[in-house]
Amino acid sequence: MPRRLFVTTALPYANGPFHIGHIMEYIQADIWVRFQRMQGHEVLFVGADDAHGAPIMLAAEKAGKSPEEFVAAVAGGRGKYLDGFHVEYDNWHSTHSPENTELSQDIFRKLKLRGLVYTRPVEQFFDPVKGMYLADRYVKGECPNCGAQDQYGDACESCSTVYSATALKNPRSALSGARPELRSSEHYFFRLSDPKCKDFIRQWLELPGRVQPQVFNKAVEWLDGEGDKALGDWDISRDPPYFGIRVPDIAEEKYLYVWLDAPIGYLASLQNYCGKKGLDWRKVLETHEQIHFIGKDIIYFHTLFWPAMLHFAGAPYKVPDHVYVHGFIQVSGEKMSKSRGTGIDPLRYLELGMNPEWLRYYIAAKLNAAVEDIDFNPEDFVARVNSDLVGKYINIASRAAGFLSKRFGGRPAARVVSPLLERVRVAAPEIARGYEEREFGKALRRTMELADEVNAFVDAEKPWDLAKSPDNAGRLHEVCTVSLEAFRMLTLYLKPVLPRLAARAEQFLGLGAQAWEDVARPLSPERAIGAYQHLMTRVEEKQLDALFNIESVPQPTAPQRHAEKQQHAAKKHAVSDPISIDDFNRLDLRVAKIVRAEQVEGADKLLKLTLEVGELGGRTVFAGIKSAYAPGQLEGRLAVLIANLAPRKMKFGVSEGMVLAASGEEPGIYLIAPDSGARPGMRVK
Ligand code: MSP
Ligand code: ZN
Repeated sequence: MPRRLFVTTALPYANGPFHIGHIMEYIQADIWVRFQRMQGHEVLFVGADDAHGAPIMLAAEKAGKSPEEFVAAVAGGRGKYLDGFHVEYDNWHSTHSPENTELSQDIFRKLKLRGLVYTRPVEQFFDPVKGMYLADRYVKGECPNCGAQDQYGDACESCSTVYSATALKNPRSALSGARPELRSSEHYFFRLSDPKCKDFIRQWLELPGRVQPQVFNKAVEWLDGEGDKALGDWDISRDPPYFGIRVPDIAEEKYLYVWLDAPIGYLASLQNYCGKKGLDWRKVLETHEQIHFIGKDIIYFHTLFWPAMLHFAGAPYKVPDHVYVHGFIQVSGEKMSKSRGTGIDPLRYLELGMNPEWLRYYIAAKLNAAVEDIDFNPEDFVARVNSDLVGKYINIASRAAGFLSKRFGGRPAARVVSPLLERVRVAAPEIARGYEEREFGKALRRTMELADEVNAFVDAEKPWDLAKSPDNAGRLHEVCTVSLEAFRMLTLYLKPVLPRLAARAEQFLGLGAQAWEDVARPLSPERAIGAYQHLMTRVEEKQLDALFNIESVPQPTAPQRHAEKQQHAAKKHAVSDPISIDDFNRLDLRVAKIVRAEQVEGADKLLKLTLEVGELGGRTVFAGIKSAYAPGQLEGRLAVLIANLAPRKMKFGVSEGMVLAASGEEPGIYLIAPDSGARPGMRVK
């Protein structure tokens, strides 16, 4: 029986372009969806922008746009990422849509009717200048516990105390700087703490296979919280100004909290799709398993509120069948942070002409079904793509196709019996299980083991030797046939991950689009294969350098090099152009203490320095001084840092400044050090 699946990914906030974390989630879900389709299952795969909420409203204001214009501009940029990485949604919609308004208000009304919604006054800070209530993150002040200045309204970064904004001393609005007033307003609440609600959620969670064990544990911990950790009711309304959906049936202007309407956006996108296709969305909902792919940071919303909302709203709504949670992607072991801009820009990746299927393969190879973070490591990326994909898999076709075309008119041999092919074929269910269970790494490892076996077979049979004598033509024909038939099956196994490559390989093999069951349908001697064209190139190191912003140095020609040398020499002896004292003062030079110095794996010139710069705090700097210093020599020393140099993304991490050193014509690098007595943080003028 074919399954019917309604699959979603988390709806990204419409406040900016996609980052690599989004792309990772979409690649994961897209692979799973493609696999299900190859199995003959029917899938509706939808996404949408999460358009509402205060942060987006404020971002739009800052950009000088209306929120509608702002989110529309962001939405307009989505296609090039999705197409670029071969992520194929059936529909992409927005929570700021008529469908979502209608559905959200409908669900709200139904919850209210069942007595699960009530109102009570909430005391909150109000910014009299902006004329709006302030969420805790928009209030700053002194920590009530340790007195640290400039702390946000939810927790102290200095002593880690958690409090509410109203506890801050000398509070002010982070938006306008005004002193906020405490005001009271009527809010709507969802009775999450109601025993019938909690009982339902637990029962929903307990169905085997509903969520991963780690997710189950986390959700139960929240459900069973006691004392100040007890599960409270959920504040689901906001006062104007707010970019959102109106609370229905009241005269007063109030809005539904963005996290109420956001997941309903899954259904809005489905409804929008069904509208376009002339389908009844209620029917689709009823007949399809509902599956959400999300990241670990939004488990709370998807395993407590969301199923409860859907269950108590009743038909046509239906609870999710599965919530599949993934960890976060980090780059070279560093957490991604929007403000510091680490990470990989997916658009830059595409613009550099890097193959999207390299990234799909790399991410897939690292993914499993647990809620584990994965690391994008540039060296590892190059190694996996080049050695697995190109070196193992592509290699099989390129070694066999030429002989088959030239010697045998492109026709595979008939009735080839091969234990190797049998082994490749019987692996199909195991590899399928890997995909089904989201153990993509396992599925790919097994596939590459098989590729190794095929390559070993080719190495042993040596078709290039067989080709030397006409006596061996029969064996040569068999060997090439076995290789290409194995390549065909491996292509099928890789197809969910590498859809474009697989399509090109199918074309070259003279096949239509293969479904999973076609694994048992070998290449036919009746049909000639096409001319082999190289299916995938290797990644080059310099592409990764370019991706991480390290300028790639073009290799100059000999005469150019000579001219450059002369110019260079002339420059070296001349004094640079004069600058004013103001120019000089723009440099923020500081005394810095090197608290740690480390080797950087894969870098021939760099050391990673951890600096302590007094009031400026800690800094990480990559310095090109490896040829002159061993890390041990540096720890504890003082150096001079340009503290206001714009941070620079490098392959190994972000460099937050530069330490000064002298060098001349002869080899040698000499770190500049202040005289004794100088303390970290002092200015150098
Ligand atoms: N708008 C909410 C989701 C609403 S769903 C009804 C949201 N948006 S988000 O843009 O911040 O995140 C969207 C998805 O990207 C989430 O599943 C989140 O976990 C995921 N990721 C964000 N950063 C990530 C990584 N660094 N790595 C992998 N996924 C990450 O949350
Ligand atoms: Zn504190």
